[in-house]
Amino acid sequence: MPSTTATVPNDLESYWLPFTPNRAFKASPRLIARAKDMHYYTPDGRAVLDGTAGLWCTNAGHNRDPIVAAILAQAAELDYAPAFQFAHPKAFELASRVAALAPGSLDHVFFTNSGSEAVDTALKIALAYHNIRGEGSRTRLIGRERGYHGVGFGGIAVGGIVNNRKFFGTLLAGVDHLPATYSREHQAFSKGEPAWGAHLADELDRIVALHDASTIAAVIVEPMAGSTGVLPAPKGYLERLRAICDRHGLLLIFDEVITGFGRLGYAFAAERYGVTPDMITFAKGVTSGSVPMGGVVVRKPIYDAFMRGPEHAIELFHGYTYSAHPLACAAGLAALDLYREEGLFERARKLEPTWADVAMGLKDLPGVLDIRCVGLTAGIDLASRPDAVGRRAYDAMVRAFEHESLVIRITGDTIALTPPLIVSENDIAEIFDKVARVIKAVS
Ligand SMILES: Cc1ncc(COP(=O)(O)O)c(C=O)c1O
Repeated sequence: MPSTTATVPNDLESYWLPFTPNRAFKASPRLIARAKDMHYYTPDGRAVLDGTAGLWCTNAGHNRDPIVAAILAQAAELDYAPAFQFAHPKAFELASRVAALAPGSLDHVFFTNSGSEAVDTALKIALAYHNIRGEGSRTRLIGRERGYHGVGFGGIAVGGIVNNRKFFGTLLAGVDHLPATYSREHQAFSKGEPAWGAHLADELDRIVALHDASTIAAVIVEPMAGSTGVLPAPKGYLERLRAICDRHGLLLIFDEVITGFGRLGYAFAAERYGVTPDMITFAKGVTSGSVPMGGVVVRKPIYDAFMRGPEHAIELFHGYTYSAHPLACAAGLAALDLYREEGLFERARKLEPTWADVAMGLKDLPGVLDIRCVGLTAGIDLASRPDAVGRRAYDAMVRAFEHESLVIRITGDTIALTPPLIVSENDIAEIFDKVARVIKAVS
């Protein structure tokens, strides 16, 4: 019988899962069927506590009524309008709202559909900006070891996670990397920004001396490196980076895909640190994870530099079919309303000391090598099993889901915890109790 008339089996084979060991997953899948607030529910109805806000994105909690209602209403009113040469009203409204949350003169927003696209967009804007100002020799991009900037070619080139790079050829030419800011020897068990490490920003001076400033377009860093295992910026590090960029005319890009929208207690981490970059990339929390969206906020002088030539001519040859998609804009506006009405960024700031205290309570558990906290984020390094790097944390993640009904995130042998910002003190206690039991079980 032709397969088109057969019942299609709903098996697990066709779907190639991203950043997942597919064979192990398909042998023992972890399926999530619905969600509400702090919990997921499996297809058979088991409630699972979300210790990670999805993938650092559902900052307002899951399936919040105002966001759901906004998406439904938007779908009924306008599904799509061309993103090139046309626009819909909510795109402007959301751009203004995001710009208002960003510090200083960061006041123009270019929308994308993901963090990876936001990063590649920011890198392209940096290159084009120098080019149109007659400084086309500024083509080098500087990232950082252990940085994660998504999975586009630009993002993996400036990123510094070996496995994300080594399979993919030559990446972009002309990229250099700052050293990672983490040292267990000097920073272990720090709450917030570690005292040691500001001097690592001075490595940028060395890189500039090597290549000459006239060849460098931009520097991109995460204010808190998330995906590599929660590495907060050392005290004073970002200020130093800003000063060196200013001295040499380099654009400074903060990748705030994780740190944006409240994760560190502020709309953007730039505000927490009092350091204003030239561009901020964002995604995830802008819609509280409900509809894919990302973007880049740029400073006015950068936008203005492009606004020249004949008025009918396109100023930046870049964009996505779904830039500022109506559903994403509606979801974004509703999410920003919720953040404001419920004071969720301030809530994260207030809960930070409690969160850090409870997290540090796991310090003496077997195999715990370090715990780092900043904002509502914790990274817990576990000792690797001999010859099986990543296995202990993988076992921890599986056990957390199966035995403790908790979702945790892992990277290498690090557990990362980043709950929705609606997390209560009881939830915090529950998350760390569960994690403690898991750590003991996999020790
Ligand atoms: C700092 C940072 N940049 C970029 C990205 C990529 O975002 P996306 O997965 O939406 O492409 C991520 C994702 O975790 C991220 O943490």
